[in-house]
Amino acid sequence: MSEILSIHHVTVHLEQNRRKLTVLSDISITVQKGEIFGIVGESGCGKSVLSNSILDLQPKKMRVSSGDILFEGQSMLKKSKHQLQKMRGKEISMIFQNPMSSLNPSLTVGYQIVEIIRAHQNISKKEAKGIAIDVMKKVGLPRAEQLFYDYPHQLSGGMQQRVMIAIAIACQPKFLIADEPTTALDVTIQAQILHLLKEIRREQNTTILLISHDLGVMGDMCDRIAVMYAGEIVEIGTTAQIFENPSHPYTKGLMESIPTPDKKGNPLYSIPGNVPSLQERMGGCPFASRCHLAIDMCFTSKPQLKKVAKAHDVSCFFSEMEEVSFEYAKSFS
Ligand SMILES: Nc1ncnc2c1ncn2[C@@H]1O[C@H](COP(=O)(O)OP(=O)(O)O)[C@@H](O)[C@H]1O
Ligand SMILES: [Mg+2]
Repeated sequence: MSEILSIHHVTVHLEQNRRKLTVLSDISITVQKGEIFGIVGESGCGKSVLSNSILDLQPKKMRVSSGDILFEGQSMLKKSKHQLQKMRGKEISMIFQNPMSSLNPSLTVGYQIVEIIRAHQNISKKEAKGIAIDVMKKVGLPRAEQLFYDYPHQLSGGMQQRVMIAIAIACQPKFLIADEPTTALDVTIQAQILHLLKEIRREQNTTILLISHDLGVMGDMCDRIAVMYAGEIVEIGTTAQIFENPSHPYTKGLMESIPTPDKKGNPLYSIPGNVPSLQERMGGCPFASRCHLAIDMCFTSKPQLKKVAKAHDVSCFFSEMEEVSFEYAKSFS
């Protein structure tokens, strides 16, 4: 496997009332060609800011202040708006949570798919329509020939998301960013859309960056997972490592929050407290204020990502210790 995307020590700041707030802090992720890489973390942890930074889709006041983002070895941060625009849809495509906010309500579904195809290929409307119909069938849209002339509001949420995916894959991009693609959909439709993403990866060898606040959806989708908390990566590993040996207390909390059949009937666990706002972030471990294991040191020094196994990194002072030592250390704090 070879590297397709490398996010290299990226820090993002937001300018607000002449203050510089840190949104992302020293993020490093490498995505291999053909893999499904997951980013998980509660709402407000910085997943969208990170994925939007790849194609520079951030508002002006939100800037990558250090680090680099390399796509196929080339810096995305050095590209002009025009160059990025040309890459969008052809090299890298995005799918967002709410299809209605990305689809144009006044244009037919077919027109919107044809438009993206013709933006990147010099072909006739008729040829583009043929490709559009094929893509619509591929994403499981029924009666593609008739649906081509429908407007987005005539479709259900699940169908709208399929249209978004059709637009995203119409030009066979190498890289697909799916930012909470199923969050707005009900559970059955969610499973169908996730299945479709896996099919796309299998058939077109598309690399997928899958973002979700729900660790539960990542399990049978991703090859590797990065866990984000308050603008930092706190754990990164293969899906098996994250699920079988979650090592950061935050990852463990997310694991416990996944509904499973054996938890049925019991109230679902949720990690006490909230993700701190940008103004509330302090030094030390970002999770310290919500961590039941935190000792004084956790509030004052920042733990670095450290290897706990091959390809498995965790940023917790106690990640290498047993639970018993956690409790032991705590009793002295
Ligand atoms: N345009 C913006 N202006 C001000 N703050 C923002 C903006 N976009 C995101 N943020 C803040 O940045 C942090 C990360 O947000 P986001 O990346 O959207 O989180 P996630 O996608 O993980 O839910 C949050 O604290 C959020 O409030
Ligand atoms: Mg988001």
